Amino acid sequence: MLRSGRYARIPLVTAIPLVATLVLAPAPGSFTESSGKDEMPAAWKESSRLMVEEQIAARGVKDLRVLETMRETPRHLFVPDALRAYAYEDRPLRIGSRQTISQPYIVAAMTELLEPEPDDVILEIGTGSGYQAAVLSRLVKTVISVEILPELARGAREALRAAHADNVEVLTGDGYRGVPERAPFAGIIVTAAPPEVPPPLVEQLAVGARLVIPVGEGFQQLLVLERTETGLSRRSVLPVRFVPMTGEAQNR
Ligand SMILES: C[S@@+](CC[C@H](N)C(=O)[O-])C[C@H]1O[C@@H](n2cnc3c(N)ncnc32)[C@H](O)[C@@H]1O
Repeated sequence: MLRSGRYARIPLVTAIPLVATLVLAPAPGSFTESSGKDEMPAAWKESSRLMVEEQIAARGVKDLRVLETMRETPRHLFVPDALRAYAYEDRPLRIGSRQTISQPYIVAAMTELLEPEPDDVILEIGTGSGYQAAVLSRLVKTVISVEILPELARGAREALRAAHADNVEVLTGDGYRGVPERAPFAGIIVTAAPPEVPPPLVEQLAVGARLVIPVGEGFQQLLVLERTETGLSRRSVLPVRFVPMTGEAQNR
């Protein structure tokens, strides 16, 4: 259910987002540049504004909080040095270990679908670069993010520190089972695609919470599941393409 009060009148342009899976790893970059959480460095401001106007709002993301957050989150801190010139282009980029930072449009669309609120504790599966977690960190109380590859978890922690995203906890491990000891969550966002929805993640949703997740093999569907007082609703939103969820998801 969309909360209409938070949305501007921006025309909906339909588009099919495909998050390309890029497989060649560049040399890992350093994530050391510092940036205040509330101010985007001037050099990147205009690129970020254009990315949001021309790629994200123009393609139908309407939540003003999400648009503002996308404008202000320093994506250049989450991409390797060699790719920084492309940080505000609306495309996925390689981050090493055969993984990618997602396309900004899909990060914004998934964030909007989650309907985050300021007091929420959100679980993310698939930290990658840490960018999606950084976006969420500006909208909610706490983000717990799980990454299966230790080297990416380390890089993400470093980038999140540089971005002053102090309310993000990055855990290293297989996110298939979620984080039951911290459940229930006000929302769960998954950025790697399992063949089926992992039942433990559904169990860790609070009443009224949403699970936003790409599901399938090869091309996938982005699903939104919502726990209601009486059960679970499920709808398919968009065709997408994410990297596969590894670990236990592959043994099912
Ligand atoms: C498309 S990338 C995520 C992009 C990321 N959200 C960002 O903002 O950069 C998918 C990530 O999910 C991770 N991943 C895959 N399977 C996982 C699992 N079972 N548990 C936790 N992370 C997993 C991958 O290692 C990869 O870093």
